Amino acid sequence: MRTPIIAGNWKMNKTIEEGLDLVEAIKGHTLNEKVEVVLCVPFTDIKPIKESIEGTAIKLGAQNMHWEDAGAYTGEISPPMLKELGVDYVILGHSERRQYFNESDEDVNKKMKSAINHGIRPIICVGESLEEREGQREKEVVKAQIIKGFEGIDSKDIEKTVIAYEPIWAIGTGKTASAEDANDMIAFIRDTIGELYGDLKDKIRIQYGGSVKPNNISELMNQSDIDGALVGGASLNADDFVKLINY
Ligand code: 13P
Repeated sequence: MRTPIIAGNWKMNKTIEEGLDLVEAIKGHTLNEKVEVVLCVPFTDIKPIKESIEGTAIKLGAQNMHWEDAGAYTGEISPPMLKELGVDYVILGHSERRQYFNESDEDVNKKMKSAINHGIRPIICVGESLEEREGQREKEVVKAQIIKGFEGIDSKDIEKTVIAYEPIWAIGTGKTASAEDANDMIAFIRDTIGELYGDLKDKIRIQYGGSVKPNNISELMNQSDIDGALVGGASLNADDFVKLINY
């Protein structure tokens, strides 16, 4: 059985004070113990949020990192810096980073290897654009992202990684992939992992992301291959996020 994982990606939202208020509000609710809950917060929020989730089952994630341990990379954050703050997860290759900051599959692959080497669990994001879906190339595109992203990743590390399938056209648009379409792609991603790692395909957790809301979460989570959600907008509101965790 794969443990469901629901992660909030706050993106570039929430000052420390706002973030602490949100976490306090989330902590005020009883949370589904069967679900692993992760908050992926801006770098500046990591330390205070870590302190505020102390003693709870909530895990902490970052939204990006460099692959090098240190060096002349102005503005970047390294894996040891995140590790020192007690980060459990890091989102890698989010479509916004691929789109606005030109991150390539090669970058994502280097970051994955580095995260694993430092004991930080990667949440690797893949997904097609609207144009690619309309051209019926979505599977080809996502398969290539998976193959390049996982190049050189050892099978012993597969269980530690999480994949998030986020179709770009569904992010922040209010358009969700239908639960069946999302499941179909996620099953395809699982088969691709099977081609690379055999039976480990049944161990790796694969989330759906893109306009996940309280009104569509249960249908998504009821699908055979969807193991959780990576949530943007609805993770910024405590009531909504708690509804997702308690789907
Ligand atoms: P929304 O939930 O706001 O569509 O964002 C999805 C996302 O990009 C999570 O990483």
